Amino acid sequence: MNTAASVPATAPMRIAADTWLIPNLAPGGDGVFLPANSMIIRGREPVIVDTGAPVHRTQWLEKAFAVVEPEDVRWVFLSHDDGDHTGALLDVLERCPKATLVTNFFSVERLGLEKPGLPLHRMRWLEPGDRLDVGDRTLHLFRPPIFDGPTTRGLYDPKSGAMWIVDTFAALTPGALDADELPAEALEQFSTFGSAVSPWHPWLDRAVYNRHVDSVEAFGARVVASAHGPVLRGQRLDDAFDRVRGLAGAPLIPLPGQELLDELIARTLLESAA
Ligand SMILES: [Fe+2]
Ligand SMILES: [Fe+2]
Repeated sequence: MNTAASVPATAPMRIAADTWLIPNLAPGGDGVFLPANSMIIRGREPVIVDTGAPVHRTQWLEKAFAVVEPEDVRWVFLSHDDGDHTGALLDVLERCPKATLVTNFFSVERLGLEKPGLPLHRMRWLEPGDRLDVGDRTLHLFRPPIFDGPTTRGLYDPKSGAMWIVDTFAALTPGALDADELPAEALEQFSTFGSAVSPWHPWLDRAVYNRHVDSVEAFGARVVASAHGPVLRGQRLDDAFDRVRGLAGAPLIPLPGQELLDELIARTLLESAA
């Protein structure tokens, strides 16, 4: 198993004009790691898009504020209230006094159970279909094709062609954060992770679901970043949309069970005896 010490170092990565991926990796098995990314749009009114996982809080703050000065941040777009997207949320609100938190009613209700004291007067509540004017561009909110939290909204920036698709397109990586640097087989994981986080896909009507996926693809994003997978462009991106379309009405993809746990425990015992 990987340990925290074996996690490859990552740095902010420019993925489109004014747009940066803030990456972090967590151990995910032998030689592979789970990304826990967020994004920053450094336009006239800089936007932080999600705030990383709690385990990466210190590194996240270093990386994010190497890209944007805290006092310049005007918006914090929270895609949903899951813990792995709200790791540095309170730090950001404290260190970025000019920032407005873009969230929604149900996220705030749910966050109230774990992060009391969120400032209502510093919020804006927006839903899929809404838009956010951030000075030199208007961001479009949409419902990603795959999501693991009911409050989820993705973001599309028509000015740069960059899209934040949240928990869709997740995949473990040996370290590469760009899909073009990964073998095509690695991207088959989009189906496995999609099935794992959206286990209602066997009940989906293909035509209805595909219309939704089409509507997301129709934004025409030139680059798509996500919280837990590699950055996608071109053919790899087209294939990724097709892969999630394929989940509609398809059976669940089985996940590891007790057998894996037994193996991990046996391995840990062996390692501690060595
Ligand atoms: Fe999530
Ligand atoms: Fe997530």
